[in-house]
Amino acid sequence: MDKNELQKVMEYFNSRRSIRKFEDREIESNLLNTILECAMKAPTCGNMQLYSVVITRDADRKAKLSELHFNQPACGAPVLLTICADFNRFTRWCEISDADAAYNNFLSFTSAFADAIIYAQQVTTIAELHGLGTCYLGTAIYNAPEIAGLLKLPQLVMPVACIAIGWPAEEGVPTERLPLRAVIHEEEYRVDGDEEILELFKEKEDYAPNRQYVIDNNKKNLAQVFAEVRYPRNLNEPFSAKLIDWLSPTFLR
Ligand SMILES: Cc1cc2nc3c(=O)[nH]c(=O)nc-3n(C[C@H](O)[C@H](O)[C@H](O)COP(=O)(O)O)c2cc1C
Repeated sequence: MDKNELQKVMEYFNSRRSIRKFEDREIESNLLNTILECAMKAPTCGNMQLYSVVITRDADRKAKLSELHFNQPACGAPVLLTICADFNRFTRWCEISDADAAYNNFLSFTSAFADAIIYAQQVTTIAELHGLGTCYLGTAIYNAPEIAGLLKLPQLVMPVACIAIGWPAEEGVPTERLPLRAVIHEEEYRVDGDEEILELFKEKEDYAPNRQYVIDNNKKNLAQVFAEVRYPRNLNEPFSAKLIDWLSPTFLR
């Protein structure tokens, strides 16, 4: 890759945004398959490729799936890709081959989860480079059992992310990031004091849309909006318990 090409790639990464509004226009199967296949070059645990993707285009099924994603705005995309951690295919191959497969446990779950998420991000990046818009729907995990039922996922297959994908009908909203020093640690983890932590989040708190967000939600600060409105205890705890219950017979052993 020459310098100009590299600069273009860096520009893409620096300017990309999630898209939640889409044109009423299909994604051609050939293009989608090209993206999904190219993404398969992603690294995976032991090259076992412990993921699957369920493509939803059908309007009725999309409506049912959207409900399980709380009818979020991005559900209006022409295609919803449910990316799943999948140890079913590999386990079956082992069993058919008279190999002693021990993958119904938490360690194996973390491998399949990692493979699926890395694949999802590869799909997202390649799709965006083709001019498509994408948005993750983390609600795939909130309603994993129900989504598994709708998409007929067998044992050892868990939805870990949904990617809403289509031709963008908006530019997307610019979002802020923590400063680099917040996330890097030289050689050993640096545990910051309270003042430093507040300083790291200052830019986020000062970002005008976030200040408005605090006012709109009638809260004292941004942390309260996150912890008490967006991702509150009364949602986290029951959804977590539901997930553990569902995974216990298979992956959580
Ligand atoms: C695991 C994961 C789950 C997400 N879930 C949702 C979601 O349910 N709904 C949504 O609108 N965006 C979702 N997003 C998108 C984030 O809100 C978005 O990436 C973040 O705000 C930064 O914005 P940007 O992607 O435009 O830079 C999710 C992203 C990730 C990585």
